Amino acid sequence: MSAAEGKTAGTGEPILVVRELHCHFGGIKAVNGVSLDVGRREIAGLIGPNGSGKSTLFNLISGTVTPDRGQIRFDGHEIGGRKAHAIARLGLARTFQIPAMFDNMSVTENLLAAAAEGHWQGARERAADTLALLKLEHVADNRASDLSGGQQKLLEFGRVVMRQASLILLDEVTAGVHPNIRKIIVEAIARLRERGTTVLVIEHDMEMVRNVCDRIIVMDAGRVVATGPFNNIVRNSEVMQTYLGRPQ
Ligand SMILES: Nc1ncnc2c1ncn2[C@@H]1O[C@H](COP(=O)(O)OP(=O)(O)OP(=O)(O)O)[C@@H](O)[C@H]1O
Ligand SMILES: [Mg+2]
Repeated sequence: MSAAEGKTAGTGEPILVVRELHCHFGGIKAVNGVSLDVGRREIAGLIGPNGSGKSTLFNLISGTVTPDRGQIRFDGHEIGGRKAHAIARLGLARTFQIPAMFDNMSVTENLLAAAAEGHWQGARERAADTLALLKLEHVADNRASDLSGGQQKLLEFGRVVMRQASLILLDEVTAGVHPNIRKIIVEAIARLRERGTTVLVIEHDMEMVRNVCDRIIVMDAGRVVATGPFNNIVRNSEVMQTYLGRPQ
């Protein structure tokens, strides 16, 4: 059974519940009382200006930073303050804003290593599928460090796909990539949705957000300031001007 078909699936409880989460760095309240829910099989977009706390929120959820206070409930487990590897084992996978991979290993080896961290069953077939999905077949044997920046973003994404997680956090996977690579990623997210995976995606590209997200969560200065479907958020011109700096 994959993590996406986990034991609490179908209970109706959101897969991710965050309540009154706080985290500060010195005098900076990076996350300042965030509460949000993400439903099972939802593709939710997390947007907001630079420095609004989006990546810190991902760090708190995935266990790379410890919260000052607040609750994080993932798939029925209280995970606030738990270690990153323990949270990953529960079925959560994430990308980093700066891709994290094994530079000296090939693309295929990187994918297999990711499978070894999660579900190994059928790993070789899945690696082949992932290479095809992300159109990386022609560089399958290349070292990760020799890939272009865009291809490294794809590989980072592929490593998350290989984990077969029930919740995936994507931190700006399309930032600075060629539109062709963005298209590949958008299609791959659609495949994840079909598979039953829940995805929370940090994204600055509004076209991408419009294309892939069921619902948008807007952060500013460490807080959630708006949530709703894309069209409602865009219609809220105050949110668009104040928090995104670009009325649409
Ligand atoms: N490890 C850290 N040490 C000190 N300050 C930090 C640390 N991580 C984040 N911050 C600060 O916390 C605030 C929120 O940063 P964060 O990276 O979460 O923002 P973001 O919304 O992801 O921004 P961006 O869109 O630029 O990626 C910023 O003021 C940042 O400088
Ligand atoms: Mg960030």
